[in-house]
Amino acid sequence: MATTLEQVRMDLPNLKGPVPGPRARAVIERDRRHVSPSYTRCYPLVVDRGEGAMIQDVDGNRFLDFNAGIAVVATGHCHPRVVKAIQQQAARLIHMSGTDFYYEEMVALAEKLSEIAPGAVERRVSFGNSGAEAVEGAIKLARWSTGRDKIIAFFGSFHGRTMGALSLTARKAVQRSGFGPMVPGVVHAPYPNCYRCPFGQTPDHCAVECVKHIEDTLLKTIAPAAETAAIVIEPIQGEGGYVVPPRKFFDELARVANQNGILLVFDEVQCGMGRTGKMWAAEHFDAVPDIFAVAKGIASGMPLGATVARHDLMTWPPGAHASTFGGNPVACVAALATIALLKEGLMANAERMGTYLRTRMRDWPARFPNVGDVRGLGLMIGIELVRDQATKERAPELRDRVVQMAFERGLLVLGAGDNTIRLCPPLVVTVDQCEFALDTLEECLKTATANG
Ligand SMILES: Cc1ncc(COP(=O)(O)O)c(C=O)c1O
Repeated sequence: MATTLEQVRMDLPNLKGPVPGPRARAVIERDRRHVSPSYTRCYPLVVDRGEGAMIQDVDGNRFLDFNAGIAVVATGHCHPRVVKAIQQQAARLIHMSGTDFYYEEMVALAEKLSEIAPGAVERRVSFGNSGAEAVEGAIKLARWSTGRDKIIAFFGSFHGRTMGALSLTARKAVQRSGFGPMVPGVVHAPYPNCYRCPFGQTPDHCAVECVKHIEDTLLKTIAPAAETAAIVIEPIQGEGGYVVPPRKFFDELARVANQNGILLVFDEVQCGMGRTGKMWAAEHFDAVPDIFAVAKGIASGMPLGATVARHDLMTWPPGAHASTFGGNPVACVAALATIALLKEGLMANAERMGTYLRTRMRDWPARFPNVGDVRGLGLMIGIELVRDQATKERAPELRDRVVQMAFERGLLVLGAGDNTIRLCPPLVVTVDQCEFALDTLEECLKTATANG
């Protein structure tokens, strides 16, 4: 498709001066005084508007957003079809509370989620407002439907900040410190990270020790099978560093879960909604969860979370679980528009652009001594930085430097894990934008490494 010079320019970053500019600095000063200091801001970006994969800050600087509001704006910022759906719905009905009344938008979205869920299994949906709430719903349903209280989660995982979701989370000490005691009954297992195998194996010799540990140790000691309701896992670990497990891990995990009557709960909050080139990360492994949690990309930025479960599991009685705002009609129509756009082409674009990015990054470990590993599926890509490729010693300071330098050059990326750069752009991203991101990251890696 022919593009004019002006369009190309608008699709790429343009910084008018050093960032942050004066307006951004003023907002940050006010923020410092009145907003919770618990938020993690990696660099001083103060956003004014967004369109597609581009963000404009309050000083008129244009950035390429390879972060998508932390994997949220799946269809890009302010996609016209999502905006139109929101505007039309907001003019008609903003809220009625699906907990006590009916409206068609919630039913339509539940039907759609059931239709697109992994596996040919009929589903029911409980709606909330966030990823954490979707995970809370999954924990409660797993306990309620099995009558068991133990839950197995994984080290490195992030499931949210509410007490139940936080109890499953085992990512950074600061996220849990001072908030205990956690919800009882949760135990953690090593996550299948093949670059840093917790059992010292190599992919060729792996006998799926991660699942053996669950089967032979946890289920026989602190989480007896008869007391274990669920195994909760991110099919691709997000905040923990964009880690992709091998397929055989899921096969074995399903076997152990089935043999012991334990439910498989997938947290698809970050890896779902088309980001990996398929609607659900689970589909890459032909895995079918009993329950899964969805949020982030589901409604392109409107707050919405969903706990999606096997129909025969979600039979809890009226009053057992609900949320006033959950499944708000405006969020539901945004989700329906988002899902339509994903199916019409954005999911395929995620697959195409992801392959494009990873193909160009394939030789990065050979070209950059500090790139230890490049991994991912679709537009969920992690670049792990190390001090030394042989020892794999983590390089968190270098990672932070590269993230900061990219920002100063107009590219927005964030870290994941201690030393990984995550790429999770909106699914509308173009080849030109991918080129810009790759060129910028290459330059940052060279400069940051040279400056030691
Ligand atoms: C995998 C996963 N689960 C749950 C959550 C929590 O989502 P929220 O911040 O919407 O509560 C996150 C957020 O990063 C996540 O990545």
